[in-house]
Parts: sequence; C-alpha cells; structure tokens
Amino acid sequence: MTKAIILSGGYGTRLRPLSCTIPKSLMPIVNKPVMERQILLLKSAGVKEIVLAVSVMDDIVKNYFKDGSQLGVRIHYTEEKHPLGTAGAVKIAEPYLEKENFFMINGDVILNCDLKGMLKFHTAKKGIGTIAGKVVDDPSRYGVLIENEDTHQILEFLEKDEYSPPNGKIIPMPINAGVYLLEPEIFSYIEPHKKVSIERQVFPIVAKKEQLFYHQISGVWKDIGKPYDLLEGNMILMVDLMKNLEDNVKNLIDQSADIHPSSKIYSPCTIGEKVVIHGDCNIGPNVILGDNVFIDNNVELRDCLIYNESYISSNVKIDKAIIADNCHIQENVTLRGNNENLVILASYVEVLKNLEILAPKTISLTVCHHEVLKESMK
Ligand code: GTP
Repeated sequence: MTKAIILSGGYGTRLRPLSCTIPKSLMPIVNKPVMERQILLLKSAGVKEIVLAVSVMDDIVKNYFKDGSQLGVRIHYTEEKHPLGTAGAVKIAEPYLEKENFFMINGDVILNCDLKGMLKFHTAKKGIGTIAGKVVDDPSRYGVLIENEDTHQILEFLEKDEYSPPNGKIIPMPINAGVYLLEPEIFSYIEPHKKVSIERQVFPIVAKKEQLFYHQISGVWKDIGKPYDLLEGNMILMVDLMKNLEDNVKNLIDQSADIHPSSKIYSPCTIGEKVVIHGDCNIGPNVILGDNVFIDNNVELRDCLIYNESYISSNVKIDKAIIADNCHIQENVTLRGNNENLVILASYVEVLKNLEILAPKTISLTVCHHEVLKESMK
C-alpha cells in the first residue's frame, strides 16, 4: 500500500510575520490547514499511513494532527533538530518508507488533483521517481522541468537560479509542483545525517540516469510561498470547492453564522462557524472569514482573509489584506493593500481607532504579532 511523507519543517521566511506564530503547513486554506487538505486528498487516493517531517514549530503541528485518527489515517512524525533539507528530511523517514513506493509532498502547496492517476502513471513508467508538474506563465520562481515529450522522461531539472528563459523572454514552462512519487531506491541517493536538497542534489542525478519522469497534473495547484500566493490560493480553492458542490452554490456559509439581513454578501465568500455579522455591511467578493469572527455594523470587506477569533469594529474598511487570528480592529479604521502588496497583520495585533493603514506600492505592509498600532501608516 502506497504511503506518503509530507514536509513541514521549513522556516517559512517569506510568510513572516504570519509564520512566526502559525507554522506554514497549518496556514488556513478556506478555513482548514493546508496540510490537513493534503492529508484528506492522500486519503481519498487510498493512502492510509503518512509521515509528517516536522522541525520548526513541531509541537504545534503534532498537537494539531496527533496520531491522525481524527482524520482516519495513521500519522508518524520524524523530527529534525535543525532542518535537514528536503532530502535529509526524507532520509530519516526511511524506516517508515523503505518497503514500497510513496508520495512525497511539500507541505505548503494547495492541491486538488488526481493522485490516483499519478500513481498509475508512475507504476507504468517504472522509474525511480515521478515529479508532478504544472505549466505556469512565469516559471522564474520555480524549478523548471525539461521533459522528452514522447517518453515524459525528465531530461533536465533546473532550480530557480539555474534556468534562464530563451532570449530573456518569459514563456510558460512546466515547473516542479512539489509533489513526487518515489521508489525506496531513492534512499540510496541521499547521504545520511547531512543537510541535502532533493531538488538540487538528488533529482538531477536521478534524471541523468533516465529514471525520473514528468507527470502533468490538472486541477488546483498553488504554492503558498508568499503572502499574495496565500491570498490567491485561498480564492482559487474556494471557487473550486464550490464548483464541485451540487446546487450551484455561490458562497460557503456555515449554518451557525449569524448575519444581519441588512448586510450583503457578494460572491464568492466563505463564512466560518459562529461568525457574527451585524447590519449594513458589504462583505465580498473574495472574502474568507474564519470561525468566531465578529463583524460590527457598516463594515466593508473585500479581497481578504480574516482568521479565527478576530474582531472587526464598526465602520472599518478592509481591502487586500490578511488578518491573522485574534486581531482587534477598532472603529473607523481603513486597511488597504496595493495590488499584490498586502496589509498583513500577524496574530493578536490591535489597531486603534480612526487610523489608515495603507500598503506602499512596492512591498507589503506587515505588522508583527501582539503589536498595537497607534498611528496611521501610509
Ligand atoms: P521559505 O523560508 O519562505 O522559503 O519557506 P520554506 O523553507 O518553508 O519553504 P520551501 O519552499 O523552501 O520548502 C518547501 C516545503 O519543504 C515546505 O513545506 C517546507 O516546510 C519543507 N521544507 C523545507 N526545508 C525543509 C527541511 O529542511 N526539513 C523539513 N522537514 N521540511 C522542509
């Protein structure tokens, strides 16, 4: 029976300050941690045993998933005192994975794709590894894969800094989606007790041996490397989840939510458990509210994520922002991002009343956890 390993030990530096209190693999994607969504997808493909390779903030991850029984799978943990790199993390899981092939997934990708189809492809190709790929318009941020289009063998595996587009012109290319199917033979390519990168130090060698294949996945794939990816990825999955429901659903609203009839919800939106929305609010489009969020009168929200337990007072306007859990925004505050540059409040931030917090044109505006904003920022 195919098993799986999910990597969840990176620092998540690009998602700071959100990742200072929330491990990247627990970032909510439509109100469920990204890694929980992966585990459920693996389970639907028949995987029952999963290793979580944890390191940074491991206690929080272990405490959330425990032994996996709540999700109907068996979870084991491997721990690295310091991150051992993407291959080093797999190597220490060898005792769990040495008998049969296994999926390896980066714990920071939003996925809704056909893993069973990938397994079928991998079994037919009989290589040591299959890499799931996706064609993206701008491949410069990812590892690029060059395949033989007839055999799907990977000819070259080029990391971010190794790929230069032909004539400097950016064109769509297949990229490494961070989802692999590997045979136990892969372990012989990884030196033990060392920091080793699977992308840089292992795959290029396996590709040279003609043992690495490319399988293009369809469906949802989005990594959550940067804050704007996190916002965008949430919206993509929200729309996909609605598409797969029967009744032409336009919003995902939990039954326990209490929304005043004078408030309007503009699709698509997700509203979590026990959310309270008072009167004359305009919510959406592209808004996801976690559980127990409180929204007072006359609030306008669009293009934003608001995590559990946050409190938004009356006459607040929020546009292009990520508000982590337990934040408190007082009355008459405006929080506004600028295209892909967002306003990002980490957990437990308080914004005092009558302030304007506006992201500049070139960089997101970030506020660290537990800070109190007392002055406008523009
Ligand atoms: P940045 O610091 O923002 O680059 O984030 P990251 O290091 O968490 O992400 P990166 O894209 O480099 O890693 C992809 C996935 O591999 C993420 O799910 C990480 O948690 C995981 N990962 C990266 N390095 C390690 C490691 O050394 N050990 C383990 N266990 N997981 C890792």
